[in-house]
Amino acid sequence: MENKKTILITGGAGFIGSHLVRRMVERYPNYHIVNLDVLTYAGNLTNLKDVENASNYEFIKGNIVDKEFVDQLFSERSFDAVIHLAAESHVDRSISSPLDFIYTNIVGTVNLLNSAKNAWAGDFDGKLFYHVSTDEVYGTLGKTGFFVETTSYDPRSPYSASKASSDHLVRAYWHTYDMPIVISNCSNNYGPYQFPEKLLPLSINNIKHGKTIPIYGDGKYTRDWLWVDDHCSAIDVIFHEGKLGETYNIGGDNEWQNIDLIHVLCKIMDKKLGNEPGTAAKLITFVKDRAGHDRRYAIDATKLKTELGWSPSLQFEEGLEKTVDWYLANEEWMENVTSGNYQKYYEDQYVER
Ligand code: NAD
Ligand code: DAU
Repeated sequence: MENKKTILITGGAGFIGSHLVRRMVERYPNYHIVNLDVLTYAGNLTNLKDVENASNYEFIKGNIVDKEFVDQLFSERSFDAVIHLAAESHVDRSISSPLDFIYTNIVGTVNLLNSAKNAWAGDFDGKLFYHVSTDEVYGTLGKTGFFVETTSYDPRSPYSASKASSDHLVRAYWHTYDMPIVISNCSNNYGPYQFPEKLLPLSINNIKHGKTIPIYGDGKYTRDWLWVDDHCSAIDVIFHEGKLGETYNIGGDNEWQNIDLIHVLCKIMDKKLGNEPGTAAKLITFVKDRAGHDRRYAIDATKLKTELGWSPSLQFEEGLEKTVDWYLANEEWMENVTSGNYQKYYEDQYVER
């Protein structure tokens, strides 16, 4: 049994955060898990219905951009560790509204760092600030090569620039104030509870409703896909065994060009919906490209595998099928999150070529 700890998880009502909260609540009954989330369009407490009454779980609604609120929270509560996921996370939204990303991803992170530093008051024994980041900070790759932990930062969207900035600040607190930190940079996650602005849930939802599947540009952009619970198992290992001050890359060794991935998804969807093979693929529509679209991401996770013994648990084909099954079985969830502002977002975002 792990020692007693109170752990603040930010962004726990979002996609990855909700999987992480569930994992920590269920696996570590000795930990008290406090989920801090402001509940933006991407945050949804129904993602955590199954653990909301657990005795070692608590939800606090609040904004990390609000310095007074964050300061007060840290002065009233005694957190042993922070796992920081709260962020604006969608690249397309960062192109239309960069400032939201600057506030939450940069200012919000600094507020948490300052409040933790003040609350811990130089007594860092057993404390940890874990910053969850993205492979997008490294920029874009050509046809070959991988991102390693020492790859130079080269962010190219307002989202990735804001995440890069937050990574630099977290490292600066390690060097300047001896704050005990660790950072991980992960590739694209997929699985249940992902907001349908992201490629896979958006495509699943559109296919289900016979709507076009929008593919940006030539569709030959490459991403490295990881099952969301495998990201969380990596965070768990790094949280418990990672070396202070270090960075760990997390990835699935699972590269797909978008168009190939969507063809695999279409086949699964035809099978699940009982449609003729080829039905879903007819919905593929090439649309205007994302501005500054990074061509390829690919993670080298050797450090995490060799130093901490992590490996992903799920094969991609199995994970994709599980993902489709979940979205088809959770129609109500999808309907709830796609009502309201979603329609307006969709109309503004997609322009056919
Ligand atoms: P998400 O958009 O699904 O969830 C973000 C959560 O943060 C939401 O619950 C939202 O309400 C909350 N939040 C946003 N602004 C806030 C604020 N000002 N104060 C408090 N809470 C706020 O994001 P996600 O995909 O789950 O990503 C979580 C983290 O993991 C992010 O930091 C992201 O950069 C990183 N990441 C994501 C991926 C991916 O593939 N999704 C990959 C690597 C890293
Ligand atoms: O690499 C990690 C990152 O992965 C995370 O840091 C981000 O938070 C997360 O959103 C994700 O970023 P991407 O931009 O890679 O994910 P997205 O699902 O938006 O797009 C995946 C690819 O699919 C990308 O090349 C753009 C393309 N795409 C996306 C959408 C939404 C399309 O072709 N059509 C679409 O409609």
